[in-house]
Amino acid sequence: MEICVVGTGYVGLSCGVCFAKLGNRVTCVDIDENKIEMLKQGEVPIYEPEVKELLDMHSGKNLFFTTGLVEPVKKSNVVFIAVGTPSSEDGSVNLEYVKAAAADIGKAIDGYKVIVNKSTVPVGTGEIVESIISKHYKGEFDIVSNPEFLREGTAVSDFLKPDRIVIGCSSKRAMNIMKRLYSTIKAPILFTDIKSAELIKYASNAFLATKISFINEIANLCDIVGGNINSVADGMGLDKRIGREFLNAGIGFGGSCFPKDVKALISIARENGFDFRILRAVESVNSEQHLRAVEKLQDLVGPVNGKKIALLGLAFKPNTDDTREAPSIRIIEQLISMGAVVSVYDPKAMGAVQAIFENKLQFAENAYKCASGSDALMLITEWEEFKKLDLRKIRNVINKPNIIDGRNIYSRERLEMMGFNYRGVGR
Ligand code: UGA
Repeated sequence: MEICVVGTGYVGLSCGVCFAKLGNRVTCVDIDENKIEMLKQGEVPIYEPEVKELLDMHSGKNLFFTTGLVEPVKKSNVVFIAVGTPSSEDGSVNLEYVKAAAADIGKAIDGYKVIVNKSTVPVGTGEIVESIISKHYKGEFDIVSNPEFLREGTAVSDFLKPDRIVIGCSSKRAMNIMKRLYSTIKAPILFTDIKSAELIKYASNAFLATKISFINEIANLCDIVGGNINSVADGMGLDKRIGREFLNAGIGFGGSCFPKDVKALISIARENGFDFRILRAVESVNSEQHLRAVEKLQDLVGPVNGKKIALLGLAFKPNTDDTREAPSIRIIEQLISMGAVVSVYDPKAMGAVQAIFENKLQFAENAYKCASGSDALMLITEWEEFKKLDLRKIRNVINKPNIIDGRNIYSRERLEMMGFNYRGVGR
């Protein structure tokens, strides 16, 4: 099939390369000339495993990049809108880019197309896009909502092996085209109306965020009453109705999706006169979870003023260079405000943090240099490389053997045997 993807952000680009891998002819469009130039040269603007390989394999053959939307839209059967939907100040979703893309598509089309919303958009956006396109184009077209459930770091495998594909549409013709598009992917396809599809995306992310805040609260309780959060989560997770995934306690969720989507769903509800109380609690728990790690740090080292604190991990989760809404940023701000000397190391995400904090931090070349001479080490992101650290070496270079394990990746027993003072989350 001939496909056009509007927006080459994380979602658009991942989908674009994957649709090319499935044998379609794909053109990715973006207004950002630099980004398009980079992609044409085979450079990927984000760190996302497997995207580069697929780009190299398909670019120039059945995958193209351009800043001009008209031609690719005209020749496509399916046009995906995958532009950004940032949060406004009040938490509501800013649809400016979606609306602009819809207008451009409306001006470009001259025959039947399926226009698919891939961006995460509030309920009712399908209707908005339809009405914008109809202003410019009087012929036939169909609107589909096909939310993405890709995780950063595993976007390609999530696309090719999804748990489900959700397609919201009201036309048989569009339904058949979408079915054909995904025919080689082995996953259940759920066909719904457009509004349900739009809601499924928010409800799924908000539910996963709720699971995380819930388990973090149980961990906080374990810290007071005893018990081991890992065993509690294992015991809960064995119940098929609950499931073990997303029950890992830690220092809170971050990234470009959960914080934004929880806020957006609260705001969508509020705009419609409904108070989404559970989600307000989820947000509130998450906004304080990182502070508990800082309290544990103070328990171990006393006042942190003038102390050197080493942070391992800056990305909001492993296998990405993304630091948006990352707990690391909030912890760094807190530590700096308390007068600590902060040294940091992350395998991929140093650049973004350097741009924010500049010379207020010490940027180390590796985990050992980061820990060297410090009064405590805080594990923030559970990168594989940190799980495999030579902890004896850390013990030798650290000034005071204090470890705050914000992701529960180390064995308390082992660390204590090595002479470390250990604090995990709920264990
Ligand atoms: C999330 C969803 O998982 C995807 O399905 C969705 O498509 C995506 O948002 C999106 O809307 O685009 P992502 O933000 O990439 O994906 O990351 P997750 O792997 O879901 O992790 C989110 C945050 O939750 C991370 O900060 C992670 O550390 C935290 N988390 C996750 C926990 O604290 N505990 C857990 O058990 C799981």
